[in-house]
Amino acid sequence: MTAKTALVVVSHHRADSLTAHIGDVVAARLKEAGYAIDLLNLHAEGFDPRMTVEDQPDWDDRDKAYSPETRAHMERLLAADVILPVFPVYWNSPPALLKGWIDRVWNYGFAYGRSKPKLAGKRMLWLGLAGAAEGDEYWAWMKENLDRVLRDGISFYTGITDAAVEVLPDAEGEPQIVDAEGNFTKGEALTGEQRTAHYAAIDRLAVEHVEKFLG
Ligand SMILES: Cc1cc2nc3c(=O)[nH]c(=O)nc-3n(C[C@H](O)[C@H](O)[C@H](O)COP(=O)(O)O)c2cc1C
Repeated sequence: MTAKTALVVVSHHRADSLTAHIGDVVAARLKEAGYAIDLLNLHAEGFDPRMTVEDQPDWDDRDKAYSPETRAHMERLLAADVILPVFPVYWNSPPALLKGWIDRVWNYGFAYGRSKPKLAGKRMLWLGLAGAAEGDEYWAWMKENLDRVLRDGISFYTGITDAAVEVLPDAEGEPQIVDAEGNFTKGEALTGEQRTAHYAAIDRLAVEHVEKFLG
């Protein structure tokens, strides 16, 4: 039997980012669980998130031939059993890089617009990293928003019924809190053992989310 494939989609502009590191952590855990890994680092691969005329949907032609770049990404999606985007939360949303990948690649006639969805049967875990603490005023609605848009609005809409959204809090090396009056305060940067423990806890939480998802 061939191994199942996990497409891990890293959306960050820095190779040394926490996001890229968490991408490696979850890829390692999926590999341990027997998955073949396709690590798609959107920035490193030079993916351009801007919509183009070639990749814009034609509502009269669901078989439109999209750009070669987009078609190559579609093939990678089709080959995946599990799709796992890892991304920083920017303005309570996925970053433009990931949003553009969805816009251009999860296209009409491919991801939606057919009576038999091509992506049906795949499983999906959206894993965001947020600077906010779990106790933040807006944590609950931020999570709820992301859940609505990503799980219902994208995964479910494209036939992926087995999908989850998780967010790792405190993804900064210093505490960031927004209080009830909307004031933003930034605490002291963590150093030494405290810093090591902080990042180890984020790694553990990411692995826990993957394990929960794998069941
Ligand atoms: C443009 C921008 C917008 C951000 N918006 C949010 C936000 O809405 N909520 C939040 O909790 N953190 C927000 N953050 C913090 C990022 O989520 C955090 O810096 C990131 O997850 C840390 O991971 P990294 O080191 O891999 O970038 C934002 C950061 C940037 C740069």
